[in-house]
Amino acid sequence: MRKPLIAGNWKMNKTVPESLEMIRALRGRLDPSSPAEVVLIPSFTALFSAAEALRGSGIHLGAQNLSHLSQGAVTGEVSGTQLKSVGCRYVLVGHSERRQLFQEDDALVHQKLKTALSEGLYPILCVGETLEQREAGQTRDIIGTQLQEGLKGLTPPEIRKVVVAYEPVWAIGTGKNAQPEQAQDIHEFIRGRLVSQFGEDTAQDNRIVYGGSVTPENSPGLLAQPDIDGALVGGASLDADLFYAIIDAVP
Ligand code: 13P
Repeated sequence: MRKPLIAGNWKMNKTVPESLEMIRALRGRLDPSSPAEVVLIPSFTALFSAAEALRGSGIHLGAQNLSHLSQGAVTGEVSGTQLKSVGCRYVLVGHSERRQLFQEDDALVHQKLKTALSEGLYPILCVGETLEQREAGQTRDIIGTQLQEGLKGLTPPEIRKVVVAYEPVWAIGTGKNAQPEQAQDIHEFIRGRLVSQFGEDTAQDNRIVYGGSVTPENSPGLLAQPDIDGALVGGASLDADLFYAIIDAVP
């Protein structure tokens, strides 16, 4: 069975002391019998201290980005090896903010995903359509291409390590989450694409999580859907009470 994954993407928020404060607040509340796997994804600057603070908690650490190159003269970038060495298990690739603000295309996203895998990290591949694309009826085409290009040529052991995050761009930071049935519809489509790319056995094990204005109020409905295997939470993951309530909503 797929273990539900609840990940908090803090984006460019929280200093190191603020990150540690949040981890302390969360550790105190987390129920060890929760069915969810919890992942925190702070800024690069907080990763090292966060790893120390998370030791023994069962909460995993992730990074928001990595370089497509493995080492060397690449000013300003952070490598997969470096992330692994500070205790990261997961790394986001292809978040829509990276695609939009830093012109990351499917080819670069694919390179990053391969680099992450070769460093022993578990990539969380983000896909999703903009409002214009949805209104033009292109949602499936866009997501199909992002999956095809992002995941092309992966071996069975590699694809097993990938989490897919469906994050409709129009739902990110807007307070307008996808309705549970609307999200389920796309998650089912994504699973179908994984089945045709990699076969039934593998695709049934891949977790497909939803992101975009997830809150304690809407998470029970979203997480109850058969193909929604967790949530990638932005704004609400910055507050321990809100994030805890989302973790607690995992059925
Ligand atoms: P919000 O939850 O703030 O909409 O952000 C979603 C997101 O982008 C998570 O990666």
